[in-house]
Amino acid sequence: MTQRIYLDNAATTPVSSAVFEAMRPYFTEIFGNPSAIHSYGQEAHKALETARRSVAKCLGALSSEIFFTSGGTESDNWALRSVAETCGSWGRRIISSAIEHNAVLKTLEKLSSQGFEVTLLKPTQDGLISPESLKRALSPDTILVSIMMANNVVGSIQDIKALAKVVKESQSRTVFHVDAVQAAGYLPINVRDLGVDLLSLSAHKFHGPKGVGALFAKIPRLPASYMTGGGQERGGRSGTENTPGIVGLAKALEEAVSGFERTNELATLRDELIAGLTRTPGVFLTGPKNNRLPGLASFVVEGIGSSVYLINLLNERGVAASSGAACSASSREASHVLRAMGYSEELASGTLRFSISRYNTAQEIKALVDMFPGLVKELRAQKNS
Ligand SMILES: Cc1ncc(COP(=O)(O)O)c(C=O)c1O
Repeated sequence: MTQRIYLDNAATTPVSSAVFEAMRPYFTEIFGNPSAIHSYGQEAHKALETARRSVAKCLGALSSEIFFTSGGTESDNWALRSVAETCGSWGRRIISSAIEHNAVLKTLEKLSSQGFEVTLLKPTQDGLISPESLKRALSPDTILVSIMMANNVVGSIQDIKALAKVVKESQSRTVFHVDAVQAAGYLPINVRDLGVDLLSLSAHKFHGPKGVGALFAKIPRLPASYMTGGGQERGGRSGTENTPGIVGLAKALEEAVSGFERTNELATLRDELIAGLTRTPGVFLTGPKNNRLPGLASFVVEGIGSSVYLINLLNERGVAASSGAACSASSREASHVLRAMGYSEELASGTLRFSISRYNTAQEIKALVDMFPGLVKELRAQKNS
């Protein structure tokens, strides 16, 4: 069998063995409902609150500011809808960027259909949002600004601290939300230092389990009740908590935060990948040269049509790559991120993303670099035949 090489870690990561072991007892022995009064419940409740303290510590937040959710999509939805609900009486304007994940963009579409005015900032050609463009867009009726910390398609990292400063200098009551789903676990995050009000993260992007995330919320009256029912998560999000998942999220974040130096190794592999792949003519790196996620490199490939063909061919050779967003991975449509960055429809359809984790090796990167020119040549020949 061909050796398989997993390079789609921005879509999801394998659970680390330490995370798996930390979660295990919460499926079988400590299985109580955290809201129950008896000792089973108390044990589970204790685990939840320990996890909350740990996540808070990793983010420089208070435990009371951490809410557990089912993942990045829910955290984003909760954050945006909550601000619309609680601030809609004094303003209707929301500012975001054209390169956000659909968890934000589709939610904004919905809010726009409910009468909110949404402005999407255009990025630079490198996928960066300038504080000046945000400053120009802000108005006294802006209730919310939502900007992602790191982009899931091209890996560009925004200067969140500078953007937060612009928001707060304009008006302190404007809420600043950050989708940190791709950043958490890879970049240091201190919510106080950054000056953000709301921040979303998702465990499965940093070797935690799928289906669990967190929302940091600084403002005492936020987040507004999102799911009604039994009143879990201090009344904000009803539903029996996913104790094993939450324990896994906390463990995965602790592991990531205590090993930030490992991201240098990711960056070394990423740079070898970039140097190797761009040796093929007509293959270009997208996103900024420097301010990029340590494990992510995206390319546009000329003359192949949709990148889906190349992703399929790579898959036949055992390499898992993607076109950018996992939710639209099989789509032949041009990436909305690359279109916003000014790429033509054709190039934006040929985008190819590789995302590296701490489990990848230099040998794997070399194997990909060696096979890549042949695959591109094969596809270009097919397209021209
Ligand atoms: C930037 C960003 N936001 C939100 C999400 C959604 O996260 P989840 O898969 O946990 O719902 C993703 C997932 O790819 C993402 O990359």
